[in-house]
This record gives sequence, structure tokens and C-alpha cells, in this order.
Amino acid sequence: MISIVIPTYNEKENIEKLIEKIFDACRNIETEVVVVDDNSPDGTGQVAEKLKEKYNLHVLIRKNKTGLSSAVLDGFKIAKGDIFGVMDADLSHPPDAIQVMLKPIIDGKADFVIGSRYAKGGNIENWSVKRKIVSKGATFLAKPLTRIDDPMSGFFFLKKEIINHVNLNPKGYKIGLEILVKGRYRNVIELPYTFRDRKHGKSKLNFKEYKNYLLHLLMLYSYKKSIFHQFFKFCIVGGIGVLVNICVLYSLVEFLYLWYMFAAVVAFVVAVSSNFVLNKIWTFKEKSKGIKVAGQYSKFFIVCIIGLLINLGVLYILVQYGNMWYVLAQLVAIGVATLNNFVGSKFWVFK
Ligand code: GDD
Ligand code: MN
Repeated sequence: MISIVIPTYNEKENIEKLIEKIFDACRNIETEVVVVDDNSPDGTGQVAEKLKEKYNLHVLIRKNKTGLSSAVLDGFKIAKGDIFGVMDADLSHPPDAIQVMLKPIIDGKADFVIGSRYAKGGNIENWSVKRKIVSKGATFLAKPLTRIDDPMSGFFFLKKEIINHVNLNPKGYKIGLEILVKGRYRNVIELPYTFRDRKHGKSKLNFKEYKNYLLHLLMLYSYKKSIFHQFFKFCIVGGIGVLVNICVLYSLVEFLYLWYMFAAVVAFVVAVSSNFVLNKIWTFKEKSKGIKVAGQYSKFFIVCIIGLLINLGVLYILVQYGNMWYVLAQLVAIGVATLNNFVGSKFWVFK
């Protein structure tokens, strides 16, 4: 059986039409719909209650408006199917697409299917420029968390088992993203659909939800923390590298009486080398088996040289054209160069 969970808040004009369309689209599949309403002032809950006579429908009316994600999770708790679906109530998600989305799950080809506006063939109708930008921006911020093109989607189907015993965070709007990051699925696929803007009622996505989303992202990032952890370690190694650099420079000039410019080059090489070793064994915890260390070291050297050029370039631009104090400019420049070095190290040198 499939259970389709629909969170509702003030969707009186939409709910009946949607339920009718869902059951029409699912004629040949055993289907239940779970409406989770937060005591909508417009009486959506009562409208839904009446439909129970006609359809295999459950209505959960909660006392307070506690958000979309938590509504979906409460719906999952009372759903009896082994496949769960989630749809908005406002007809933005086409019931006609349900069968197509269920097929890969029923055929055993996927255990998580996401309706995608941004996959090839997907589309959005009638969105304001502002909404498009917000959506794209939010999607961009989630990029490192998933390979999916539309991780913000509120339209998806999954095998119940992929969230069994998974501790899902009930805050905010993005329950789909939460499942993408924490769910125990093996195959996730995206299928395109056209998102239609609602005809009745208003979107509940407000400023508070933007803030919730950013907090949610932080939590997901720390959940996935390995990359941040690595970045943190990479910065510590970078700090050690600076100390090594200064010590070598000082020693060569003071004790060996070398020219400071020549000493600086030697100091750079020594610091890059010690950073290489520390990053290899600590930051990225690499075993050297089968890896050609000399080649890897050369790559790391190249990354560091590029980092140095970026550092100097940013410093020059900020001071010359931005009129920034050179110390502040150098801090910014170090930040940019560190990012370059980290990305180069993680995805090229130690990949
Ligand atoms: N029970 C309950 N409680 N339902 C809620 C709440 C709540 O606090 N807030 C929103 N809903 C319901 C709405 O009634 C609707 O059925 C659904 O959740 C989506 O809300 P909309 O207000 O229509 O959201 P949207 O259209 O701005 O956003 C949708 O599209 C986005 C794509 O950009 C959602 O599907 C988002 O998840 C999606 O990212
Ligand atoms: Mn909507």
C-alpha cells in the first residue's frame, strides 16, 4: 500500500480537488491519503474530515501550527503503507505524475524518487523572479550535501524502510532534504515534473522559514561534518605551516646569514613540504598504498603556488582598487587562498 501524506494549512479551496485527483490517478494501486492539518482557521481540517466518507483518507488535526516538516513526520507515524509519498496541498505537484514516480520503486529500481523541477524536462510555471532567485540560492547552498538537482523538492516518494530508525529533524520546511542527507537509501532518482503555482490561497513560505532553512543547513552540514572537519584540520595545518615558514626564515637569516629573499623561498618550500605530510597523514588520513607520493607532492606544490599567486593577486586588488588597509586585505587574501588550497587538495591531490 502507498500512503500519501499531505500537510495542510489554510488549503480549503484546494484540498478536495487534490484528493479527488490523487485517488483518480491511483485507481489501480492500494492507496491511503493522510492529511495533517494544523487546525487551519479556514476550516481545511473539517473539509477533509467530510471527505473521509468517500475515500481511504485519514485526517490528523494538530492543535498548533508547528511546521511543514513536523506535519509530514506526524503523518508518517500514522501511515500504514510500505511506500510513503509527500505532496503539497495546493496542486503545485501534479497528481498525474504519481504513477510515473512510483514505478521505479515498485520495480525495485529505486528506493527514493524525487520530483524535480530542475532535472531535464522539469519546469516551473508562473514564478516571480524573486521566488526563482530564492529557490536557486537555497538549492545552491545545499549543493555540497547532495548530488540531486532539486533537493528543495516537496514532492517525493520513498520506501518506508529507508527512514526506519532514522532520527529526522522536524524543524522547518525541507523534510525532503533531511531525508536525502540522513536516509538509508541505496538508489535515489529524480524525475522531472512541472511545478504550477497555486491558484488559491497563499504560500506559507515566509521570512521565518528562510531563517529556519539556514539553521537547518548548519545542522545538516555538521551532520555530514567530515568535509568541515577536514577544512578545520586543513586550517590548523596551514597555521602550523606559517609557524614553520617563519622559523625557517628567521634561522636562515640570523644563523646562516642568507639573503632574506632567498631564505623566504627556502622557507616556503619547507612549509609546503611539512603541510603536505600533515595533510596526508592527518587531515585526509591517507594510506600511501598504491599512491605515487612524488606525483602527489608535485600536485600539492602546484596547488600551493597557485594559492600564493591568488594571495598576492587578491592583496594587490584590494589595496590598489579597494583602498583596503593592507593587513586586513592580507587576511581576506589568505582566506581566499586557503579555500583554493583546500579545494585543490581535497578534490585533486588527495582525491
Ligand atoms: N500542517 C502544516 N503546518 N502544513 C503546512 C505548514 C504548517 O506549518 N506550512 C505549510 N504547510 C503546507 C501547505 O498548506 C502546503 O500544502 C504545503 O505545506 C506547502 O506549503 P506552501 O506554502 O504551498 O509552500 P511553497 O509553495 O512556498 O513551497 C513548496 O514548494 C517549494 C518549492 O520551491 C514546498 O513544497 C517546499 O517544500 C518546496 O521547496
Ligand atoms: Mn505551494
